[in-house]
Amino acid sequence: MKITIIIGSHQQDSQSHKVGKYIQHQLNERDDVDEVGMVDLGGNPVPLWDSTYWQKESGLKETLAPFMGELSSADGYVIIAPEWGGMVPGGLKNFMLYWSEKETGHKPAMIVGVSGSINGAYPVAELRHSGYKNSKIVYTPEHLIVRNVGEVMNDMDPNGGEGIDKEIRERTAHANNCLIAYAKAFKAMRETTPDLMHDDFPYGM
Ligand SMILES: Cc1cc2nc3c(=O)[nH]c(=O)nc-3n(C[C@H](O)[C@H](O)[C@H](O)COP(=O)(O)O)c2cc1C
Repeated sequence: MKITIIIGSHQQDSQSHKVGKYIQHQLNERDDVDEVGMVDLGGNPVPLWDSTYWQKESGLKETLAPFMGELSSADGYVIIAPEWGGMVPGGLKNFMLYWSEKETGHKPAMIVGVSGSINGAYPVAELRHSGYKNSKIVYTPEHLIVRNVGEVMNDMDPNGGEGIDKEIRERTAHANNCLIAYAKAFKAMRETTPDLMHDDFPYGM
């Protein structure tokens, strides 16, 4: 079982990266998780999408290959989306343009909204109504909103912290349980249901 964490902030050493490292540590502690990968969009490593991606010989495709390989090898995802201007960062939406069902189809993704203050719901809402049509990714019902992010998850102890810090650590453990349950079930479903993907219908309606 492999989970890949996607850090949706373009900032280097972002708070979203900190949250991702915390979740990565908690997932790595589990016996039922073999590997936890990470794609960090800090520093903008993924170029803006353009139509050369669809050409047979494409430099863009070569650039994206390691990222697509990382997504393909995962059984589930954690998508960390900081709230920027009440939105998901553009770089994360750009990265999602490259996703297809070959990499992410019928695999669960837990959304994590992040805010430096008391916000963080907008990126959750935005992802919940977008991004799944062609990628065929499946958002889990349990999501997280890490508010006042500077004050929480500043060490790796799942039982640490006080107040909202303690609460979000406890909720994270539960959300991780749900993600792994879906990842196990969906993996079995993909293996036993080959017609989940159909060459005539790679794009949803
Ligand atoms: C361009 C930009 C826009 C932001 N807009 C919002 C916002 O709309 N709501 C909010 O709660 N925080 C906003 N923030 C603050 C972030 O929540 C804060 O930087 C937090 O640390 C998460 O971002 P990070 O993962 O990039 O560090 C914004 C930050 C940036 C860089």
